[in-house]
Amino acid sequence: MSGPGASAAAIQRHYDIGDEFYALWLDESRTYSCALWEGEEDLHAAQLRKIDWHLARCGAQGVRRLLDIGCGWGALLRRATERHGVAQAVGLTLSAAQQRLIEANGRPRVEARLEGWAEHRPGATYDAIVSIGAFEHFARLDQSPAEKLAGYRAFFTFCHEALAPGGRLSLQTITYENADRRDFSRFFAEHIFPESDLPHLTEIVSAAQGLFEIEQLRQDRAHYARTARAWLSRLKAQRAAAEALVGAETVERYKKYLGLLVLGFHAGTMNLARIGLRRLEKWR
Ligand SMILES: C[S@@+](CC[C@H](N)C(=O)[O-])C[C@H]1O[C@@H](n2cnc3c(N)ncnc32)[C@H](O)[C@@H]1O
Repeated sequence: MSGPGASAAAIQRHYDIGDEFYALWLDESRTYSCALWEGEEDLHAAQLRKIDWHLARCGAQGVRRLLDIGCGWGALLRRATERHGVAQAVGLTLSAAQQRLIEANGRPRVEARLEGWAEHRPGATYDAIVSIGAFEHFARLDQSPAEKLAGYRAFFTFCHEALAPGGRLSLQTITYENADRRDFSRFFAEHIFPESDLPHLTEIVSAAQGLFEIEQLRQDRAHYARTARAWLSRLKAQRAAAEALVGAETVERYKKYLGLLVLGFHAGTMNLARIGLRRLEKWR
């Protein structure tokens, strides 16, 4: 059970097409989400800045237990334990390939679990939670607006229960901006991110109400346009190697998808939200 959004099978269709394929065009930390750019630096530096931003936002420095919901290939888990003094970093992913790779790296204070947040039983509370680029999978296009909101509410309720008092959640997600689910590209829905839908910022705020207060909000669509441009030019430069791994048709599909990301963020149909939230005490 992955929760109210995309199923494990749908997630694996996207993320399990091959670790080596993603390694060709993502940066060397294999981070698969919008970077945080400053100046003329390269993609890798901008991805590490993004990871550090979220770790600072959720107060991860020196904590006992950190949870990363949607941990990808584990870049943030590694950095949290190696650079931010986190004693134990637990990552959740629905991708078997990602979980295998993290576990194969055998880092003692890092644990990757093949399970969705809805089925995760923490055992002990977490001091900080991060979720980057996974919220996009927590609702489906076939849900009613009320069902979609209930799923988001279940996510924030899970985070509230999993966090120690005063703990923080740092969240990053694509949102609809000047568009809505009627505009969701059929190409994306059928071929790239099946069983997924994007949130509106208002849905996030509404679903978190009474559970979390928002301490910080950044909207950075220009950063995603630049990230997707960097991915696209790396994929083009590695075209022959990519075709050898996954075939010409898949490479064409990914080129189209990355090109559409650049356009969408540039035009403002989508935006990129980075949200720092702090757990509220329940008073009744
Ligand atoms: C776009 S990747 C982002 C990975 C990583 N956070 C990064 O920035 O590189 C989305 C991740 O969310 C995970 N995911 C999707 N739905 C999930 C769910 N219900 N519970 C936990 N993880 C989920 C996927 O398996 C994948 O690891």
